[in-house]
Amino acid sequence: MTRYKRQDPELTRRKFINVAMGGAAAVGTVSLVSALGSAKPVFRLTPELAPPMSGDVIVHADPSRYGEPVKVSDLSADKLVRAWPMGKTSDGGTVIRDKDPTSVLALYRFPKGQLVEPTKLDATIDGEIVAYGDRCTHAGCNVGDNAQQPGLMNCPCHSGQYDPKQGCKVIGGPPPHPLPQLPIKLQGNQIVATGFFLSVPYGFNKEEDWEQYTEQVKEALG
Ligand code: FES
Repeated sequence: MTRYKRQDPELTRRKFINVAMGGAAAVGTVSLVSALGSAKPVFRLTPELAPPMSGDVIVHADPSRYGEPVKVSDLSADKLVRAWPMGKTSDGGTVIRDKDPTSVLALYRFPKGQLVEPTKLDATIDGEIVAYGDRCTHAGCNVGDNAQQPGLMNCPCHSGQYDPKQGCKVIGGPPPHPLPQLPIKLQGNQIVATGFFLSVPYGFNKEEDWEQYTEQVKEALG
């Protein structure tokens, strides 16, 4: 089993939201306690469990290159590169956010002009390099390349099909939403996130739930 196929962490984002929406209060920098009382567990959002966010460096997820920053020259149009976000810790160190499977990413580099709307082109690098969450919005499997149609994506679980040149919109199968695009930029020779996913990732049905979660993340770790 590769590192990006690990199971959901014990404390999921859903529990985070449930706690937060129940009237949670921030304690210290990374923990929330339900207002319902001490019978409820303390929720701790560690940096490893956080979603990709602004400033994170995109690093390889493949075990052979795990933790190496992804370079432009690593990317192509017909073979995705799986990656994790790597953030900073409060003491100035770095942390790979690899404990939540929903944080795993897929990156492509398409020839100029192939990336079109609804891709958010201003969230790509030069209209050529694009990053998406790589967890299928149907049931959470990792999405891969479509072997029969290079440049498209296929989910191996129930044949969901996505087009990464068009905002990873669903072009077949049961997924309810596109894969979420991650805004990125080039900083030196590194690819860096400039914000959270631009639409709902797996595990969220409504934009407002995702927005509320990201606000809680910023409050806890920002
Ligand atoms: S999990 Fe991807 S199509 Fe069902």
